[in-house]
Amino acid sequence: MNEPVVAADPAVLAGLDNYVNLPAAQQPIWPDQAAVSSARAELSKLPPLVFAGEVDILRTRLAAAAEGKAFLLQGGDCAETFADATADRIRNRVKTLLQMAVVLTYGASLPVIKMGRMAGQFAKPRSSNDETREGVTLPAYRGDAVNGYDFTTESRTANPQRLLSAYHTSASTLNLIRAFTQGGFADLRSVHEWNSGFTNNPANARYESLAKEIDRAIKFMAACGADFDALKTTEFYVSHEALLFDYERPMTRIDSRTGTPYDTSGHLVWIGERTRQLDGAHVDFMSRIRNPIGVKLGPSTSTDDVLALIDKLDPNREPGRLTFISRMGAPKIREALPRLVEAVRDAGAKPLWITDPMHGNGITTKNGYKSRRFDDVMDEVRGFFEVHRAAGTVPGGIHVELTGDDVAECLGGSEHIDEATLEERYESLCDPRLNHSQSLELAFLVAEALSNR
Ligand code: PEP
Ligand code: CO
Repeated sequence: MNEPVVAADPAVLAGLDNYVNLPAAQQPIWPDQAAVSSARAELSKLPPLVFAGEVDILRTRLAAAAEGKAFLLQGGDCAETFADATADRIRNRVKTLLQMAVVLTYGASLPVIKMGRMAGQFAKPRSSNDETREGVTLPAYRGDAVNGYDFTTESRTANPQRLLSAYHTSASTLNLIRAFTQGGFADLRSVHEWNSGFTNNPANARYESLAKEIDRAIKFMAACGADFDALKTTEFYVSHEALLFDYERPMTRIDSRTGTPYDTSGHLVWIGERTRQLDGAHVDFMSRIRNPIGVKLGPSTSTDDVLALIDKLDPNREPGRLTFISRMGAPKIREALPRLVEAVRDAGAKPLWITDPMHGNGITTKNGYKSRRFDDVMDEVRGFFEVHRAAGTVPGGIHVELTGDDVAECLGGSEHIDEATLEERYESLCDPRLNHSQSLELAFLVAEALSNR
């Protein structure tokens, strides 16, 4: 039987375009408007990347996390690039997230919601519109969906054809993620194999011994006749910062079951620290889509801002709808987060609170690299758990920039990455990411914090 098709209310459709009347921060300057219109028209005809039904399931999962019955693990590149959307690199990131999820699930006996900053993380907000090198000024790199990283006029000119490349690269990335997570690779009985191919280090060794314990437990259960269907595949969600209206608006479609709009570019989309203005275009647009929405909150966030964001984005206080991603910086979290958490708690709202221990901890090293100290990242995570424990609220997840590759971008960790090592293995075009072993180490710390939560 065909399901009934529910048409969109014309007022809902008009509302989706209301953002054009509002200030929109961080949009590229496209030199050719006709080319933008044709890219948008083409995007709007391409198939959705995710389905409304999956998005609805995710909302229920996030609602469980907000209650302390699950934990969100969200991670991936600061900026994905077209060149790095290769099978090997995507697999390494998925493996790293699966490994971290195992450490967390086993350590804390909690279901972990796995979510990539993947298959759409191609647009970046920048602190300046331009970049100057040796007297030459060109537009700043805004992510592969907008322009190229090479410092030439041609590459740095915003090109709307890149919006279509972002779509196609997201489609192939998501296809591989779905194959990995549904096709047997994510079977919990492969828990050892996810570690293969990574360099030897203390975090991997610790993972290996945990994998042995899990293996033993699974064999024991198998001998008892347990049925393992639930271990064979895993849910995996994708998310990105919804920055570019010329991408997100054409990807927003009306769900025929309900007549409501879903942004089909990703399961969860978030609003960045630089675009969360209460009367701005991003908050308005996101208030009108059904996806779970994240909002980054930096140290300057006021309690009024947070309460107004709840009223705009989640007026019905729907479980799983809203995730606050605090990114205060290690020295500030214990002072800046409590008042926000308490105000939200006292207003009776129950968003999911997660920590991004990366974006408040940026430093520039003496030899000129954008980096982060692993100890600061760990300290912000500890602070996040302390603040929630004191307020009686739920620390429900973690948002990290990571890669499965053996890069050296963040300082410290059990491999003791120092400034000189950055010169050898720094690959990020944007922010520094945790490498594979730093990611595992972080997962062990969070598992410990969670089991004492
Ligand atoms: C990011 O997540 O890469 C980012 C730019 O974060 P924020 O908006 O928190 O600065
Ligand atoms: Co970043």
